[in-house]
Amino acid sequence: MSYEIPNNVDLDTDPQLKRALATWQPQYLEWWREAGPQNYDTSRIYLRTAVGITAEGWAHYDYVRMPEYRWGIFLAPPVKRKIGFGDHPDEEPWQQVPGEYRKELRRVIVTQGDTEPASVEQNHHLATTAPSLYDLRNLFQLEVEEGRHLWAMAYLLHRYFGRDGREEADELLFRRSGDADHPRILHAFNAPVRDWVDYYCFGMFADRDGKYQLAALAESALDPLSRTTRFMLTEEAFHMFVGETGIQRIVRRTAEVMRQSGRSDVFELGAIPLEIVQKYVNNWYSESLDLFGSEDSSNAAAYFAAGLKGRYQESALATDHRALDGVYEMKMPGGGEEQIPLRRAMNALLRDAYVQDCTRGLKRWNKELEERGVEYRLALPDIAFNRKVGLYAGLTCTPEGKLISAEEYEQGRKLWLVTEDERARVAALMKPVFEPGKFAGWIAPPPRGVNNQPLDYRYVQFA
Ligand SMILES: [Fe+2]
Ligand SMILES: [Fe+2]
Repeated sequence: MSYEIPNNVDLDTDPQLKRALATWQPQYLEWWREAGPQNYDTSRIYLRTAVGITAEGWAHYDYVRMPEYRWGIFLAPPVKRKIGFGDHPDEEPWQQVPGEYRKELRRVIVTQGDTEPASVEQNHHLATTAPSLYDLRNLFQLEVEEGRHLWAMAYLLHRYFGRDGREEADELLFRRSGDADHPRILHAFNAPVRDWVDYYCFGMFADRDGKYQLAALAESALDPLSRTTRFMLTEEAFHMFVGETGIQRIVRRTAEVMRQSGRSDVFELGAIPLEIVQKYVNNWYSESLDLFGSEDSSNAAAYFAAGLKGRYQESALATDHRALDGVYEMKMPGGGEEQIPLRRAMNALLRDAYVQDCTRGLKRWNKELEERGVEYRLALPDIAFNRKVGLYAGLTCTPEGKLISAEEYEQGRKLWLVTEDERARVAALMKPVFEPGKFAGWIAPPPRGVNNQPLDYRYVQFA
């Protein structure tokens, strides 16, 4: 079972690459059958499919049966640009991988590529409990797009890295999220996504990390990497939309139930208490901060120097793009601040842009509460809270960032992170709602449907 790969990379003119991908494609489809959505093979799903850059746009919507979905390889159109930062400013971007940076580039691409299939694996079981056809369709949309992102990275490995690239591309299909022996590379991509609150938080926080990583790579000196990631960013925006509006709809629903009932323990009324939402936020925000890598990093400095990975919107920053002289005021684990050379703080700088972005999202959620006269406010925990990677790894502190003893932290965990008991109560609410236009009681309907279709559109047609 294979198909002609849609592409805008002139696949036909590169027989060697075509052959390599022809071997990889059936393995990919096998992986999708195993890890992708189950039991929907005969359903028709209203999906967006990327078709490259055309006058009519980059994607089209139609009903598709999953086994007939066609993943393609697309790069954003070339733009006139120079390398924008690091030790080679104003040089021409590279069309091939320079030998001296081959290892680093392969590592960057493999690490990004590994996250894409992981998401599909993590969401594998969610379809059976979708709160509406709208949400079910969005879940499938997200999964096929993560599949396409995997194609994007596998293409770079096959096209630019020869034999070891092919081996890495095979490995991307071999590792599995949460597998004890062959886990995904980054922790958050092995963490279980057990219910739809996890899933929306993942979209809000982990896919948003994806946005910042992709945006940094979109300015990379390696032009094909830049063009691939620029195209991926168009799809990533939707993933963050699903996550952010998903939690927003939960918060809205809870606020409505609180107002109508005058109670704040709304579990019994079929909604999710805000304190529980806050715990999910604490968990996924801290997981996602880990994805930026260590705050003080010689690797990040080397990547910046080489022009592989810069800051967020590096070329638009009115600043010294060599970053040779500056310092970064780093919040230290024991309290106080220390100055570290700017280049070593590139991960922290990218993360700072991310934190601001998350903060704006939280404001939109809190506006839902404010508008409904609910006093409770959601908040992001301190950057040092619950970390496993980097400067604050293993530090025991409260969500407000106050240092505490290991014992106090153990005590506090059940106040700050979701307990098994609470998870069970959330799980009890997760009953599928598959009637067009209907939504589960724990989540408000979205203001509008997909692609200008009405809310009661039959987004999934079961066979
Ligand atoms: Fe992705
Ligand atoms: Fe994503």
